[in-house]
Amino acid sequence: MRTLTGLQPSGTLHVGNYFGAMRPAVQLQEEGEAFYFIADYHAMTTTHDPEELRANVRGVALDFLACGLDPGKAVFWRQSDIPEVCELTWILSTVCPMGLLQRCHSYKDKVGQGIAPSHALFAYPVLMAADILLFDSNQVPVGEDQKQHLEVTRDLVIKINERYGEGTLVLPEALIPEAVAKVPGLDGQKMSKSYNNTLPIFGEEKPLRKKVMQIVTDSTPVEEPKPTEDSVILDLYKLFAGKEDYEQMVTDYQAGGTGYGDFKKRLWEAYWKFFAPMRERREELQADPGYIDQVLSEGADRAREEASRVLARVRKAAGLQ
Ligand code: ADP
Ligand code: TRP
Repeated sequence: MRTLTGLQPSGTLHVGNYFGAMRPAVQLQEEGEAFYFIADYHAMTTTHDPEELRANVRGVALDFLACGLDPGKAVFWRQSDIPEVCELTWILSTVCPMGLLQRCHSYKDKVGQGIAPSHALFAYPVLMAADILLFDSNQVPVGEDQKQHLEVTRDLVIKINERYGEGTLVLPEALIPEAVAKVPGLDGQKMSKSYNNTLPIFGEEKPLRKKVMQIVTDSTPVEEPKPTEDSVILDLYKLFAGKEDYEQMVTDYQAGGTGYGDFKKRLWEAYWKFFAPMRERREELQADPGYIDQVLSEGADRAREEASRVLARVRKAAGLQ
């Protein structure tokens, strides 16, 4: 069983990314083969400054390693170190109907947000399919928002195998973690960098504390019981605190007599403690810049072996050699 996923290097990672993407990926490296990469070709559709792209790639590598990715267990590389992915993208494009891409929500959403509608933005799902198929991946852990891209990937496998023979490409499955499908942001909507409502995983203590204190609450007076449904404080606290502490907070909500400010302080402490070992690890890693280069370069070598093997099979089937 081979698991593969990609993470875009597009700014500071937040608590939603941690529970929705990083933690499941770290858990899955214990089962079967794990293939994880930093999707820098994808990031070029929205990040146009070379220095920013370079810094973001290093940042996400540091974050992922600090959060528990173990290069001894998982293969970890930077997408652009495997240019074979661009060749497979082209081959897949030749079987990809325009209508399949025209239906993709993520393209329409991004254009709606004001991102220039380039060919790369339009063809983004074909590159993503190539990422997955170049490694004969079986399962792909992604958030709900990427589900349609996995459907496109599966359609392309069926078309390639129809044209060039069964077994040319392997059909992957999406793996969508139900329990953490939607971590709420500071304003109660889904936490997302596009809504500007995130709680980052790493950063300076003071501004992060301020963010927790800014969580939007209702105006229930201190002495009255507080509603436990759809409470951002409680929902986030549940992710960081132990079961008993969480149940104690629910009891205190229902009893009344405690203000939201106190609950936020408890949330802050639980959050800060939860990420403490990862913050420490990140600092250690940051002090040794050569380490990341070495991890990514070794990862690229291993990924490239696999990519060349699969691409040779596809090239042969398609009549390119
Ligand atoms: P953003 O919404 O901030 O732009 P991305 O789309 O880059 O985040 O998501 C990267 C990964 O993190 C995806 O696998 C996505 O499903 C997951 N993710 C993002 N936000 C959340 C959230 N609020 N709850 C759970 N998972 C999330
Ligand atoms: N499009 C994904 C996202 O924005 C990132 C990604 C690129 C990816 N290639 C992938 C995820 C391949 C899984 C598999 O989150």
